[in-house]
Amino acid sequence: MNKLTKYCYGICLLISIAINILLSIYLFLGGGEKNDEISYRPPLTWSKKAAMEAEAVAAISCSGHGRAFLDSSISNGHPVCECNGCYGGTDCSELSPECAADANSGDPVYLEPFWIQNAADTAVVISGWHRMSYDYVDNTMMSIELENHIRQLHSVAGNAVTEGRYMVFGVGSSQLLSAAVYALSSETASSPSKVLASAPFYSIYKDQTVFFNSENFQFEGDANSWESSDFTNNMDVVEFVTSPNNPDGELKKSVLGGKTIYDHAYYWPEFTPIPGPSDEDLMIFTLSKLTGHAGTRFGWAIIKDKNVYEKVLKYIYLADMGISKDTQLRVLKILKVANQEDGKPFFEFAYNKMRERWERLTSVFSKSTRFSIQQRHPLHCNFFHETRLPSPAYAWVKCEREEDDDCGAVLKARKIIGSSGITFSAEARYTRLSLIKSQDDFELLLQRLTELVSHENGCIEKM
Ligand SMILES: Cc1ncc(COP(=O)(O)O)c(C=O)c1O
Repeated sequence: MNKLTKYCYGICLLISIAINILLSIYLFLGGGEKNDEISYRPPLTWSKKAAMEAEAVAAISCSGHGRAFLDSSISNGHPVCECNGCYGGTDCSELSPECAADANSGDPVYLEPFWIQNAADTAVVISGWHRMSYDYVDNTMMSIELENHIRQLHSVAGNAVTEGRYMVFGVGSSQLLSAAVYALSSETASSPSKVLASAPFYSIYKDQTVFFNSENFQFEGDANSWESSDFTNNMDVVEFVTSPNNPDGELKKSVLGGKTIYDHAYYWPEFTPIPGPSDEDLMIFTLSKLTGHAGTRFGWAIIKDKNVYEKVLKYIYLADMGISKDTQLRVLKILKVANQEDGKPFFEFAYNKMRERWERLTSVFSKSTRFSIQQRHPLHCNFFHETRLPSPAYAWVKCEREEDDDCGAVLKARKIIGSSGITFSAEARYTRLSLIKSQDDFELLLQRLTELVSHENGCIEKM
């Protein structure tokens, strides 16, 4: 071997050693791993069976008109298909032609396709020994990691100030609504605090306040009817402000200017332009309308005042000693995906869905003089950096003809089921139609509305 060849071999050996060292460091630090939190990968053992069960049930197609779940009823050894409205048969392939479009409930299943697209990042495997304790290791009931992700999402969406604010988790926002009434109402005043909301309002405010029947608070109805009253100066008032509003999608402000509970269930870019971060004393949000996971039952309150925070926390502690740790883990997985790429993939998907539904809906109603829907006003959205129309979760339909004073009945006669205006302390001339249900539900709703408007115009238009 001559000197030059030896020299070349030496260089090659050194390069090879260097490459091996670099590769080892790369692998040791978890390089190339998309999810950089878990760099050590043991072979799958006990989770394999759970993963196989989950994938087997997810592979049941139910003809694209239903879904089977791990906890669905079992028939002939298999989970049964749970069919979308108006579909039936063992595989959900049979559509009942005369079936009514049910647009009554605010069940937010419209985002299911997004979560199916993100199946790998949102699946959760919960071991039999996952967090069996009542508490986290720091003796709290709330996951700090989850709290951080919620704060991050608010900062990404630009819809709420969270810095220096307290946070409390609840079983859905429904539980936090009553916790907030408890926390804000006076325990010492001679008469109960008056709980109000401006009509049309979400009926649970009244139903809960009446149901929990306390000496400290009483539901007093429409805040608008107290606005001009002289009593309000000395009154102890707790006002629900729903913004955007359920049922009509309006961005609302307090009417009476006293103590307020801002219900921001729909204050996310898919439903409304976000003009700026809300900075109210007590704000309540819910996973149900943000990501569509109503079944997970998770909500949170953002609170400025420490005393109010401690009262809300006490309520949650006495009601259920904190929120399920399984739920908190699942919410964490979901919000990590919502936070990806500064929220763009998630909010764009959700907003595009809602925008498309509104475009199709307004096109149908534009042909009608008998029925109208709420006016939508463009606003600048700091999230999408554009001026855009709201795309509310509900259409607030008005029957314009004098004789149609029960709008729900008029629609029902044409196979459309909505929620009567009376439910929202408004006139029966109004009906709320839900736009956040499954694609099947929306398609049928649109078909029935098209038939309704075509009938008004004297011809039956085929879809
Ligand atoms: C305005 C408003 N607040 C709260 C809720 C309740 O949400 P959750 O599922 O978090 O209890 C709803 C549900 O429809 C709602 O419309």
